[in-house]
Amino acid sequence: MDTFKAYLLEKAGDAASGAVKELSMDRLPQGEVTIRVHYSSVNYKDGLAALPVSPIVKSYPFIPGIDLAGVVEHSEADGFSPGDPVLVTGYELGVTHYGGFSQYARVPASWVVPLPEGLTMLEAMALGTAGFTAALSLAALERNGLQPGDRTAPVLVTGATGGVGSVAVSLLAASGYRVTASTGKASEHDYLRQLGADSIIGRDELRPADGKPLRRELWAGAIDPVGGEALAYTLGTIRYGGAAAVSGLTGGAAFAATVYPFILRGVSLLGIDSVGCPMAVRQEVWSKLASVWKPISYLNAGWRMIGLPALPEALERIQKGQLRGRVIVKLWDDI
Ligand SMILES: NC(=O)c1ccc[n+]([C@@H]2O[C@H](COP(=O)([O-])OP(=O)(O)OC[C@H]3O[C@@H](n4cnc5c(N)ncnc54)[C@H](OP(=O)(O)O)[C@@H]3O)[C@@H](O)[C@H]2O)c1
Repeated sequence: MDTFKAYLLEKAGDAASGAVKELSMDRLPQGEVTIRVHYSSVNYKDGLAALPVSPIVKSYPFIPGIDLAGVVEHSEADGFSPGDPVLVTGYELGVTHYGGFSQYARVPASWVVPLPEGLTMLEAMALGTAGFTAALSLAALERNGLQPGDRTAPVLVTGATGGVGSVAVSLLAASGYRVTASTGKASEHDYLRQLGADSIIGRDELRPADGKPLRRELWAGAIDPVGGEALAYTLGTIRYGGAAAVSGLTGGAAFAATVYPFILRGVSLLGIDSVGCPMAVRQEVWSKLASVWKPISYLNAGWRMIGLPALPEALERIQKGQLRGRVIVKLWDDI
């Protein structure tokens, strides 16, 4: 293994572009654990990393990919041995540190999660950062008092056909909740029902023109990877004592809201971060995803597999909000 293939972003003038390149092993960054990557996956952040002028990548050449699952090839750290199946998501992977769109990766041992029993490497990447974020969101809602199996009011999921949204719908349905999925894609209602959505609403319904701060209490809680203006409506329609777990910004970073949902209904806004999430929480949530929370309807329906050469098209589609579910990148022909 003197060389390996990777999707390399390089800059020419002011713009960066990517291509599959053959690199020598000494191009890998510092780290105690070298991993033969079997699978990675395509996330919204990877789409941002691959833009010609990227808000994510600061230094080129660069290998993006914020997720990977593979087998330890070499370890200088206690606790990991050659052959161990592992996964890495978040931290600086695919942001400042060469990422998962690569047949080999080298990372600090403190980033590496042993693959939990009950999950294959393929399933781990079908979930990836998006699935992990959906699970962190559910954990936060349950810490706030949402009771598993509570069917008295639905939980709202925004951006429901996206990576975080798809897994959230499946996870919630598997845990016995009623789920209302919000989507901008009229063509994907069957897919959302297959994942377990009980009802579906259009994305525009979350942005009524009158801007009222409080409305009828509709949701037991919300998993919101979209953010933006619709979040004000969401907060104003969550029932007394409920919460919105907010992880993303595909609908925009800013939103204008009032304090009324907080001070009159005790509604909470819960921030979700998968990147710097402590290792103990990481391991606990991954092991739930491998067992009691395993989102079977999503794993049976929600993903597509590609090789490195098809990455540019997938990255462009996620930049435009056009992907359905998740795209897995398979790094070797023989796995
Ligand atoms: N906090 C964290 O740790 C963390 C982790 C993972 C992801 N994220 C963030 O979460 C967000 C979603 O990530 P993802 O991987 O699920 O992305 P994704 O697969 O691209 O899904 C995003 C979904 O948002 C909806 N959407 C797209 N453009 C929109 C617009 N202009 N207005 C409203 N909705 C729009 C679409 O769903 P519909 O067509 O179904 O409406 C789209 O499928 C991103 O902002 C990402 O950076 C954060």
